[in-house]
Amino acid sequence: MDAESSAKRVFERLDALYSLGTGRAANRPGGSEAEQQACELAAGWMESAGLEVDWDPAGNVVGRLLGSQPDLPEVWTGSHLDSVPAGGKFDGALGVVCGLEAVASAGVCGRTLAVVVFRDEERGCVGSRAFVERGPLPGRFVEVHVEQGPVLERAEAPLGVVTGIVGYTRREVVFEGAAGHAGTTPMAARDDALSKAAEFILRVRDSTAGIEGAVATVGSLEVEPGAANVIPGRVQLSVDARAPDVQRLDRLLEALGLDPEPRNPPAVMDESVRTVLRAEIERLGLPALELPSGAGHDAGVLASAGVETGMLFVRSLNAGASHSPDELTSEEDVGLAIEVLAAALRRLAG
Ligand code: GLV
Ligand code: MN
Ligand code: MN
Repeated sequence: MDAESSAKRVFERLDALYSLGTGRAANRPGGSEAEQQACELAAGWMESAGLEVDWDPAGNVVGRLLGSQPDLPEVWTGSHLDSVPAGGKFDGALGVVCGLEAVASAGVCGRTLAVVVFRDEERGCVGSRAFVERGPLPGRFVEVHVEQGPVLERAEAPLGVVTGIVGYTRREVVFEGAAGHAGTTPMAARDDALSKAAEFILRVRDSTAGIEGAVATVGSLEVEPGAANVIPGRVQLSVDARAPDVQRLDRLLEALGLDPEPRNPPAVMDESVRTVLRAEIERLGLPALELPSGAGHDAGVLASAGVETGMLFVRSLNAGASHSPDELTSEEDVGLAIEVLAAALRRLAG
């Protein structure tokens, strides 16, 4: 199959997945009916490509193309089909549908090839974590993902090879106060949970100062009881804190006053897989740019579990807009990604 018609099919399938939400954005949160429907759709596509489909106890879906030496460790590709609320068309879904095209295009190799859909990535790689605990692990894993940043677009490079994945943690922090009447309680007599939370939010904003590459975000806030004329009695907020290496992540968490654990440690991509990806990109006459990932990925979980792992980024358009419906990449770049991935899988699967 040629890369152009493969890329066209990828875009048609991405549209089908997108329409499972509201149709104006991707709305397939982990554990939702829409995520389940997306997995069933993907399982159907795997079957029609002649793959053997298997659902694991965590709901992850694996489609295998058996190799001529099926006892050797397998080579996997894939990503996730859940999305953030009001997300984009490509985050996760691109890696699944490109992976399927690439496995079909690579054909039967020595090792078994597989494309996987990991569940519930956006809330902390729930499916891939369950998978690595249970095993058996594949021998190698390559994830294709839209870049979600502006680096490749600025460099005019359609594809990039990931060097490593940021370390990150997500926490819920609670502030307690005393609910009371907004009109009759004097200012000096108040115990306002939201004022305490507001001070903490500014501390989060300032916590990254002097820590190169660190970012920290408060993305959700629940105010109770949540009425205009009641002093907030309780606030629960989320903190997402990230840094490129363990030392910087430690410094960031200390600046935030948060415990060092639990967290997803930074993950380094395997040098031999990176070499194969770079070589296949260069074979197409393209620059093989290398870049780190500021987003978390299932690939990080597999790498931390000891799987030889690589990631291929596809250029984002719209200045790298992501986790938003503005997320965009081109059919042409996707065609190139499928070609590179298929060739890399062939080489990695012997
Ligand atoms: C996953 O998309 C993340 O939040 O990095
Ligand atoms: Mn993703
Ligand atoms: Mn995401």
